[in-house]
Amino acid sequence: MKKLRTPLSVLLAALILLSGAVCFNASALDKAAWDTNWAENSAEISAAVTMTPASNDSDRYISWYSAAGSGAVTVKNADGSAFGTFDAQAVATPQGDYRLVSYISGLEAGKTYSYTCASGEWTSETYTIDAYGTDSFTAVYVSDIHVSHDDNNADSIRDNAYTLGETLEVAQAKAAANGTTLELILSGGDQASEGMRTEYVGVAANSFMKSIPFAPCIGNHDRKSVDYRYFNAIQYGTVNMAVKSYVGTDYYFVKGDVLFLVMDSNNISMGDHEKLVKKAVNENPDVKWRVAIFHHDLYSGRKPNRESENKWLRLMWAPLADKYGFDLCLLGHSHYYTISNVLYNNEPVATVENNATITDPNGTIYMVTGSINRPRGAEDEIGLRESDIGHAVLTQEKIYNLIDFSEDSIVLKSYTVESDECIGAITIKKTTNEGGHSYTTPAQWYYPLVKVISAIAGIINNIGRYYDNTQLGFDIPLFEGIFG
Ligand SMILES: [Fe+2]
Repeated sequence: MKKLRTPLSVLLAALILLSGAVCFNASALDKAAWDTNWAENSAEISAAVTMTPASNDSDRYISWYSAAGSGAVTVKNADGSAFGTFDAQAVATPQGDYRLVSYISGLEAGKTYSYTCASGEWTSETYTIDAYGTDSFTAVYVSDIHVSHDDNNADSIRDNAYTLGETLEVAQAKAAANGTTLELILSGGDQASEGMRTEYVGVAANSFMKSIPFAPCIGNHDRKSVDYRYFNAIQYGTVNMAVKSYVGTDYYFVKGDVLFLVMDSNNISMGDHEKLVKKAVNENPDVKWRVAIFHHDLYSGRKPNRESENKWLRLMWAPLADKYGFDLCLLGHSHYYTISNVLYNNEPVATVENNATITDPNGTIYMVTGSINRPRGAEDEIGLRESDIGHAVLTQEKIYNLIDFSEDSIVLKSYTVESDECIGAITIKKTTNEGGHSYTTPAQWYYPLVKVISAIAGIINNIGRYYDNTQLGFDIPLFEGIFG
């Protein structure tokens, strides 16, 4: 019998391995279990517990919706002993309840903790905090998640939320297969389609949002209503901006040797964006890598009605990237995957091919990823600006991007969920903190004018949004509605 059992167990193991090899996503999030949990666990799902990064890896923000106007997060050490209780700040929502926000601090590098949120009669499930603390880490970048309310489909949010959870599950498995761990979720805007709270509840419904810091930027769809203001009710790494959107803002944080600049490109007041970048860079002069995340695509995904807008956006944003030596800009909006050539002063200065390694680039690489729930078709494409784009893929499949950050390099690899295929990769290396950046601002003569005009245009834009949101029935103070 013993002789028979060994080959049988080997055969079974081989079958299991083979089934995994043939269909990589067989182990992805179970849809039936997701739907059951959605139906039976609504209190936990609607609380939308979300972990976001703070100034460094020893701190976190944890926020959730609550009927009660006070609450706290209780954090325990790995052995179950108490670490601390962190009282929450309450932000009143338009729905009449609160977004509670706790600031967790003092986590020790390399240690793992557990936490629960409690407010009123409700206590959350138990989630994990990993304090990480190493200079090298892996982030996943996604954009245009588009969890979407649909009047004609009551399950739309549940199903779109599942697609996001599935994508992150596959991303985590791929990172593990590559020998790394996901430590950060970066999102390039349009987390929701109508900017509705129910959509953000869907964004936060997966387990990853509770235990891996989630850093979203605001997209144009996120400001179709006001709920993003409360969902992402954190106020860290910001500056006082003269003109900002009512629902979103710029912020920055440092992880490892990377300064992340997360900006609201709906707000076109460039003087205010520069104020934030200047402060972040001055506070972190020795941090080697500068990575910007903002929603609007500058160079690719050209629809006929968007190219005139893109021309203005290029004039506004490229000088900022040039002056402050952004190494990489992560963008969305067009739902069209591209990696640009190395660009400086809106001109290509070095070619970037797929799988290229670029050492000390004297400019910025702009990367745009596809949409999770709204993949783009080719029907209204008018052609890329070939001179700007190094590598492009237009696919109906869901794209996620794993970015390995270390002292010496940024290694970006992009995959699709459906095919498990690596559709694009680049490596950026810098041999010094400056790399190839020259830190001069070409065409600087016009930039002071850009700041004045964009501030005025930003105010006019905000007046339009104020009008739209008050028409939706939201009670917004006039000054805040216009100046943020
Ligand atoms: Fe979008």
